[in-house]
Amino acid sequence: MEPAVWKRLLSSVILGFVLYRSDVTALKNGLALTPPMGWLHWQRFLCQTDCKNYPTSCINDQLFMQMADIMVSNGWLKAGYKYLCIDDCWLAPHRDKNNRLQADPDRFPGGMKKLIDYVHDRGLLFGIYQDVGNKTCAGFPGSRDFYELDAQTFADWGVDLLKFDGCYYDTLEALKEGYRRMAMALNRTGRDIVYSCEWPLYARQIEQVNYTEVAEYCNSWRNFGDIDDSWASVKTIVDITAALQEELVPAAGPGAWNDPDMLVIGNFGLSFDQQVTQMALWAIMAAPLLMSNDLREISKESTALLQNQEVIAINQDPLGTQGYRLLKVNGFDMWEKPLASGALAISVTNRQEIGGPRYFLLSRAMVWDGLACDTCYVTQLLPTRYEYGYFNASQVLKVPVNPSGTVLLRLE
Ligand code: GLA
Repeated sequence: MEPAVWKRLLSSVILGFVLYRSDVTALKNGLALTPPMGWLHWQRFLCQTDCKNYPTSCINDQLFMQMADIMVSNGWLKAGYKYLCIDDCWLAPHRDKNNRLQADPDRFPGGMKKLIDYVHDRGLLFGIYQDVGNKTCAGFPGSRDFYELDAQTFADWGVDLLKFDGCYYDTLEALKEGYRRMAMALNRTGRDIVYSCEWPLYARQIEQVNYTEVAEYCNSWRNFGDIDDSWASVKTIVDITAALQEELVPAAGPGAWNDPDMLVIGNFGLSFDQQVTQMALWAIMAAPLLMSNDLREISKESTALLQNQEVIAINQDPLGTQGYRLLKVNGFDMWEKPLASGALAISVTNRQEIGGPRYFLLSRAMVWDGLACDTCYVTQLLPTRYEYGYFNASQVLKVPVNPSGTVLLRLE
């Protein structure tokens, strides 16, 4: 099929679903109207509880206080990253005598409330982790049988976001019921707590996921397995998202986001071009931007990439439409994301991992018909800023793209 014909079919199907979705009831807690942004410890720091041998990278209050300070002093909060989130392994091995959750007393000697106050005093919000089953994935006490009590504990401590994992559930029904009950328990506390689920990840192994229902209860949800610090992992997540886009894209919108997992930019596994690809695609996919890296030792290049305001604006666009892959042609993947202003974001990834930069040829007929301009102004945002200027319907733009890199464009 001609690319232009294929494109028209695909974008009309997907946008048809997106419009249809405006009738769907999203979780009405008024939160996460744009994808949540922040920092989450898991990918980079995992479950390191040995503070004797790893004093600067174990999961303790010091690590989070340092990150909080740096998020403020190094421009992260200003750039939009406002949630500082702890993942698994913060808990003591047992609940207290009143069945309340408690932080590990050696690693969080002042308790969780004290740390959360410290974070709030710096103008940040705090995210915590728990699990729908009787244990967290790393084996700490889970929330099963205690949903209401735990929601209240989190509210009392001042928690602003809950990542709710799905390990150790009994049956699929119990998993779904647990996710629904926790959503209602959080609502009943009266505190604004963003609810980040992993329900589809676990449910999809057993049945077709009902995204209308998931979006009624969760502000964001993981669909696939964990990201790791590698190009193979980023590619896999991007490819599965594209393969399932007719299911995933219509489910997303203000207050409800597909979560392809953390940004691993600034770590060890991705070349600079691959970091650009992750940033561009996570912006196009309207993904939560939760970095998992060490902000104490991140390069200037990765910092500038993660703090790029024009790229963040595409991710945070108020229309909240998740972008979709439009073309896969000649070793290039092209995605587009319609924006509230009538403009369009386009990404082009060079999937050929041999050789040097290759030209992608872009014409007006290839992109979304709803784009407000006939002659459009084209700005390249990544990997470097460059103004292509006006581009009319009979012109072809020659865009060079590095191997495993991505060019992100804005057309308006
Ligand atoms: C699961 C989740 C991860 C992380 C770990 C913690 O694997 O998907 O994101 O939270 O559990 O144990």
